[in-house]
Amino acid sequence: VTGIITSIAAMRREAEALRARGQRIALAPTMGALHEGHLSLFRVARRRADVLVASIFVNPTQFAENEDFGRYPRNLRRDAALAEQSGCDLLFCPSAAEMYPHMHETTVMTDNLSRILEGEHRPTHFRGVTTVVSILFNIVKPHVAIFGQKDFQQSVILRRMIRDLHFDIEMIVAPTIREADGLAMSSRNAYLDPQQRLAALSINRGLQSARGLYEAGERNPAVLENEVESVILATEGIEIDYVRASNPETLAPSKEGEPCVIVVAARVGATRLIDNILLGAEIEAS
Ligand code: PAF
Repeated sequence: VTGIITSIAAMRREAEALRARGQRIALAPTMGALHEGHLSLFRVARRRADVLVASIFVNPTQFAENEDFGRYPRNLRRDAALAEQSGCDLLFCPSAAEMYPHMHETTVMTDNLSRILEGEHRPTHFRGVTTVVSILFNIVKPHVAIFGQKDFQQSVILRRMIRDLHFDIEMIVAPTIREADGLAMSSRNAYLDPQQRLAALSINRGLQSARGLYEAGERNPAVLENEVESVILATEGIEIDYVRASNPETLAPSKEGEPCVIVVAARVGATRLIDNILLGAEIEAS
């Protein structure tokens, strides 16, 4: 049975004991509302360590005032059952009061990477992510941490943070898992009604169409971006926040001929969705 740990002191004790026994710890940070995307991360992580800890913490600091913190789906009983079936040994579910004690004011932030793309629309988001992931690293003391490619910019930022702060942690990025109709799995898909879901499918259709052009030899980033945009724009009920062909390491605008990631953010009603596709590159573990 997957053990559930809620206090920071108990998690620290467990991590120390595991390390003292020479066991390799993997951490899969999540905000719960687990779906097949998370479960695939767990399965990948489980093979890379002796013990897999999944954290479930809906992190308040990565949501802005106007965002969905209050209605973000929460169901610990269901999550615990799914985590257990997918190889999790421990669930770490701390409280916000303990994670962010009274007068907490220290944050971790990548200066530039957190301001572009998603950062232009969600200026405080990545600071919340890098701060909470640093806190989790300090408590769970993992040897390896795993994140999903779906949040591509987040993975680039966390890789940079691990490097810059010399966290002694190996980072793995696992591929995006999609629904049968191509929609990237996300806890936020639960907000979509059937019609909105149809509109949301245009994101992956656009990305696949750009992939088709790339495979036929197209290397001009603007043409690839336009392809994604035109597919989405032809669909009713979806608004584009951005479509950008970016360098997969720096997230700077992609130059013609180099590998690129096309990152997309779009809104369907009140729901914000992101997705991406890598062209000419594979995700790499470091
Ligand atoms: O990707 C997520 O679910 C969150 O941003 C993370 C990494 C768990 C931090 O709260």
